[in-house]
Amino acid sequence: MRDQAHRLRQMVTEQAGPAPTDGARVLAVTSGKGGVGKTSLVANLAVSLAGRGRSVAVLDADFGLANLDILLNLNPPRNLGHLLRGEAPAEEIPVEVVPGLRIIPGASGVGEMADLDPAQRARLVHEAGRLAEGTEFFLIDTAAGIGRNVVDLCAAAGEVWVVTNAEPTALTDAYGLIKVLWSRDPDARVAAVVNGAGDEAAARAIHDRLDRVVQRFLGRRVDWAGFVVQDDHVRRAALRQVAFVSAYPRCPASRCVAALADALLGGKGGGGRGVARFWQRLTAGGSR
Ligand SMILES: Nc1ncnc2c1ncn2[C@@H]1O[C@H](COP(=O)(O)OP(=O)(O)O)[C@@H](O)[C@H]1O
Ligand SMILES: [Mg+2]
Repeated sequence: MRDQAHRLRQMVTEQAGPAPTDGARVLAVTSGKGGVGKTSLVANLAVSLAGRGRSVAVLDADFGLANLDILLNLNPPRNLGHLLRGEAPAEEIPVEVVPGLRIIPGASGVGEMADLDPAQRARLVHEAGRLAEGTEFFLIDTAAGIGRNVVDLCAAAGEVWVVTNAEPTALTDAYGLIKVLWSRDPDARVAAVVNGAGDEAAARAIHDRLDRVVQRFLGRRVDWAGFVVQDDHVRRAALRQVAFVSAYPRCPASRCVAALADALLGGKGGGGRGVARFWQRLTAGGSR
């Protein structure tokens, strides 16, 4: 009897997939060029959102350079690889950093989820809800570049922040990435975050430069998500392996992140796409 019920439930799950109504806001934070401040932004934004009483999960999808672990002084005993290999249940993967904030350590090749074998895919999609149960914000810290893994993650998320600084190479690579993202998914919501500028006016000028190129060559505009100023507290907090928004809540960079968190909470978006849907899209190749 129980077996039958189980099989029935499995069939229903396979047909319908997990409920796509979890409504979490899924946001990938990425960049064309490396070292522009993605991990620093994601970690601090997540801490900031959690500090506002929100439930946040962060997927560390830059496994090659797993510095989210180091930045927040985590020693995750398990990662997604354990789940995929059936070595650990979903609820053992996330690490709770502070109340309301869970980090999901990725696995090498987390972006190549489209290549999973069917059993792994089923396991992941089935367990997706348990990986980030009840979460309102699902943030993804990606690697840099236009590799398939990054693009798949961004396409599955549907909402993307491209981080850049003032360096011409960073801006050029940001443009290149935006072009790839929109050719993959013209409906992707892409906005730019400028990191490391001296003040808001300088940051807006950098965004304008990017936006002009995007308009000229892609015929559309890239939104402004916000900025984080250059601030030595970022480095100091990183040395202590704590979030700068916790260690120095009044420092200039913390105020910028607070503004980004407020914008996320207050702004457009409303109901998000949901975590389950993200994993479905990612494991199916991202484009649906
Ligand atoms: N706003 C900032 N002010 C000062 N230093 C920063 C700022 N943002 C990032 N950094 C520093 O830049 C380096 C790269 O940041 P990181 O977040 O690891 O970049 P990414 O994840 O894009 O590779 C780190 O040493 C970080 O502390
Ligand atoms: Mg990083």
